[in-house]
Amino acid sequence: MNILETERLLFRKHSLADKESYCAMEMDSDVRRFVGGYPRTREEAEKRFGATTKPSDSSLGMWATILKNEQKYIGRCGIYPHFDAASNPIEGEASLGLYIAKPYWGNGFATEAGEGFIEMGFNKLGLNRIVTMVQAGNNASVRVLEKLGFQLTSTEERVRTFYNFVLENAR
Ligand SMILES: CC(C)(COP(=O)(O)OP(=O)(O)OC[C@H]1O[C@@H](n2cnc3c(N)ncnc32)[C@H](O)[C@@H]1OP(=O)(O)O)[C@@H](O)C(=O)NCCC(=O)NCCS
Repeated sequence: MNILETERLLFRKHSLADKESYCAMEMDSDVRRFVGGYPRTREEAEKRFGATTKPSDSSLGMWATILKNEQKYIGRCGIYPHFDAASNPIEGEASLGLYIAKPYWGNGFATEAGEGFIEMGFNKLGLNRIVTMVQAGNNASVRVLEKLGFQLTSTEERVRTFYNFVLENAR
C-alpha cells in the first residue's frame, strides 16, 4: 500500500527488492557527507536496511521513494516522530527527512517529496509543526527547506554545527 503519491513519486514501505539501492546510497560518500559524515560499510547498511522493513501501522516513518515512470527506487523520504530530550515523542510535531540517490539530484525530487509530506502532515495528520535539522554546509538541503517555506530558528554547536529549521502549520 502506498503511503503517499505525488506527481512523479510514490512512497511505500521498503521491500527486500529495495535492498541493493538502499545500500548503495548508504555506501555513497556524497550522500553521507552531511549525514553522518562517512559512508557506511555494506554490513552496516544491510543492518540498517533490516529496520526499514519492520511492520508499522503509522504514517510516520521514512519510506521507499519510487520514481513512478521508471519504477525505480531513488531514495527515502518521510516525516517521523520528533522526540524531546527525554526521548518522548512530541505531540503534534514530526521531523522531515529527505534522502535522494545522487544520480537523481537536481530534478526537484526532494522538493516534491517535501511538499507531499508537509501536505500530509498538516492536512491529514493534523500536525502543528514540522521540524528538521541540517548540518552546516549542506547547502542543497538548506535550499530545499527554503523552497518549502521552513524558517531557521537556531544553530547548535555539537561536534559539528547544525541548523534547526521549523515550518508551522498556518491553518
Ligand atoms: C539534499 C537533497 C535531499 C536534495 O535533493 P534534490 O532532489 O537534489 O533537491 P531538489 O532538486 O528538490 O532541490 C535542490 C536545490 O538545491 C540547489 N543546490 C544544489 N546544490 C547546491 C549547493 N551546493 N548550494 C546551494 N544550492 C544547491 C539546487 O539548485 C536546487 O535549488 P533550485 O531549485 O533553486 O535550483 C539531496 O542532495 C540528498 O539526498 N543529499 C544527501 C542526503 C542529505 O543531505 N539529506 C538531507 C538531510 S538534512
